Amino acid sequence: MGEPGMNEVRVAPDAGALMRLAAEEVARRAEAAVAARGHFFIALAGGATPRRLYQLLADPRAPFFARVPWDRTQVFFGDERHVHPDDPESNYGMARAALLSRVPVRPEHVHRIRAEDTDAAAVAADYERELRSAFGLSPGALPAFDLVLLGLGQDGHTASLFPGSEALEAHGRLVLAPYVERLRTHRITLALDVLNAARAVVFLVSGAEKAERVREVLLGEGPLLPAARVRPKGGELAFFLDAPAAALLGRPPAAPPAPGG
Ligand code: 6PG
Repeated sequence: MGEPGMNEVRVAPDAGALMRLAAEEVARRAEAAVAARGHFFIALAGGATPRRLYQLLADPRAPFFARVPWDRTQVFFGDERHVHPDDPESNYGMARAALLSRVPVRPEHVHRIRAEDTDAAAVAADYERELRSAFGLSPGALPAFDLVLLGLGQDGHTASLFPGSEALEAHGRLVLAPYVERLRTHRITLALDVLNAARAVVFLVSGAEKAERVREVLLGEGPLLPAARVRPKGGELAFFLDAPAAALLGRPPAAPPAPGG
């Protein structure tokens, strides 16, 4: 998978089922990564959608908590708002409340983006150093996340890679700090090259308001939206959708009737 047009698309009937599907995928990949390489490196998505997934993963009564090798898991972030971790807008703050404060990940294995620093470029440079150190990267190498979770914005952005952003064309950097005109703020984000170096990327998309963009990203012919440029070169790509988000994908044409049928 990962070839354009060869994406795996899985549709769950509703948001709850979507979160269970995603939690199963996280647990499965965590087990496989630790079995293969002794650790599981995951980059969490921000925004509102993944909160329920993180709460489900942290729930000891659900079947996923016991499966994830938390002591071998290292947690990173795909992007961050340029705010303090205690700010309600903080992606780290959301993940800390929903997941990280409730599972036994080692504190030194939680790699948050230190976005409280007012100099966004310095925040990006700091996180780039942290990535290189955590992955033991040689100069010029890219980190190979075992799993990158991403969301989809209504404008087709993902992480904090927004349409028309120069950040989409940046090469040689792992972490960027683009100024986002529409939001009138800087964001800190993994570069597209990093997303495309992952072993697996899973988009988690819920809600009818995303259906048009989902169709455009998966079936569109126009200029590629940022989310459509995520195509892991040697990795797998999957879109986990609930039915409302998948509503405009249509259904494959029914097989023609058998001859004489
Ligand atoms: C962020 C996210 C962003 C998000 C999409 C979807 O920091 O906001 O990284 O890319 O995934 O905007 O957000 P919702 O899940 O809130 O719709």
